[in-house]
Amino acid sequence: MLLISKGRVIDPLQGVDEYLNILIEGGTIIDLFPDGAQQERRAAGARIIDAAGCVVVPGLIDMHVHLREPGHEYKETIESGCRAAAAGGFTSLACMPNTNPVNDNQAVTEYILDRARKSGCVNVYPVGAITAGLRGESLAPMGELKAAGAVAVSDDGKTVKNSELMRRAMEYARHFNLPVICHCEDVDVVGGGVMNEGYTSTRIGLKGIPNAAEDIIVAREISLAELTGCRVHIAHVSTEGSVGIIREAKSRGVKVTAETAPHYFTLSDERLETFDTNFKVNPPLRCARDVEAIMQGLKEGVIDAIATDHAPHSSLEKEVEFDYASPGIIGLETALPLALRLVSEGVLSMPGFVEKCSLNPARILGIPKGTLSRGSDADVTVIDPAAAWRVAVNQFKSRSRNSPFNGWDLKGKARYTIVKGEVIEESFVPARSI
Ligand code: DOR
Repeated sequence: MLLISKGRVIDPLQGVDEYLNILIEGGTIIDLFPDGAQQERRAAGARIIDAAGCVVVPGLIDMHVHLREPGHEYKETIESGCRAAAAGGFTSLACMPNTNPVNDNQAVTEYILDRARKSGCVNVYPVGAITAGLRGESLAPMGELKAAGAVAVSDDGKTVKNSELMRRAMEYARHFNLPVICHCEDVDVVGGGVMNEGYTSTRIGLKGIPNAAEDIIVAREISLAELTGCRVHIAHVSTEGSVGIIREAKSRGVKVTAETAPHYFTLSDERLETFDTNFKVNPPLRCARDVEAIMQGLKEGVIDAIATDHAPHSSLEKEVEFDYASPGIIGLETALPLALRLVSEGVLSMPGFVEKCSLNPARILGIPKGTLSRGSDADVTVIDPAAAWRVAVNQFKSRSRNSPFNGWDLKGKARYTIVKGEVIEESFVPARSI
């Protein structure tokens, strides 16, 4: 038995934002009650977690993670990725299919789930591929993927270039009630681009990728969602144009949802002036105006979720000339404080933060998580929003180090990460003045 006492409990699904105690038993939330209530007697003998000064929220869910197993275990394994997630306050994650072999069949999905059961400390939800081998030529067996445990399909990392094939993919996915997660970049418009096209790319002489590369495909996916009635989710939104297109589609009732990643509301393309490959990511970091638009999209609810796009790469892929570096940023261990900056800046309320990082991802993926209701799985994150700490990538649980936030002073840390009633991560951040 576990009693999380005296915290500010926030559960947007129940409309709860008050100081409550939470009683957990057998991996389930048994009760929420105020101090002094008679339920306290039931908690006799429980381990008590003192959450005074903390915010207690439904376990955070990262709906966009690259775990790299099978195939690229030198970058990340299911075990290390889950440990990084737990350290960052995440109790569940969805993992993308661009592994080797690609998760485009039942065997790979089952393998991931089996490895997660044996070595993963958080809940792992595999995302299956849209097309076989992510080659964009023929559809993956979505029924088989769903039956094996996939919660969505995506060719993440790649856009399905052929619009007719994407139409068929959405018709097929709709039949299985699987959301289609879309990576939106027109490869022809991207060309050989390696960063955002604009003032900085011109100044430093790197080939640019215009916003239009993303906007064109976002518009296409929304058009196809309308045609097919499929639930479409736009991954890692980075441009002002995408926010506008999604806003307009939502106002017409199209079944589209969207996510962005912390780097898109925290960093702009000027950072690339140092040629540090840790800032190289797909889609690329955009200009300040886009960063503003992303924040506005989050504020208005045009963007439903914050996901990390945790993309581990080793020094082999990153310590090379900018043009040759692999794109990607690790995000699991920095997303929480970066998202909390939006709360201190007034972009999101604290319940709004919980919606973006837990409730909405659960809804989009159709998984029974994202709430602290009585009877639900006891996945809980106890956050100390005032904990100040300095990012040190060499202390990360992830196997990779490719974070552009190394050395940053951030505020907010998961004190306890609890999965099905088990404390899987406990951290105490000593007070430091920054
Ligand atoms: O920067 C990225 N890296 N964007 C993606 O969409 C894929 C990811 C990866 O797998 O490395």
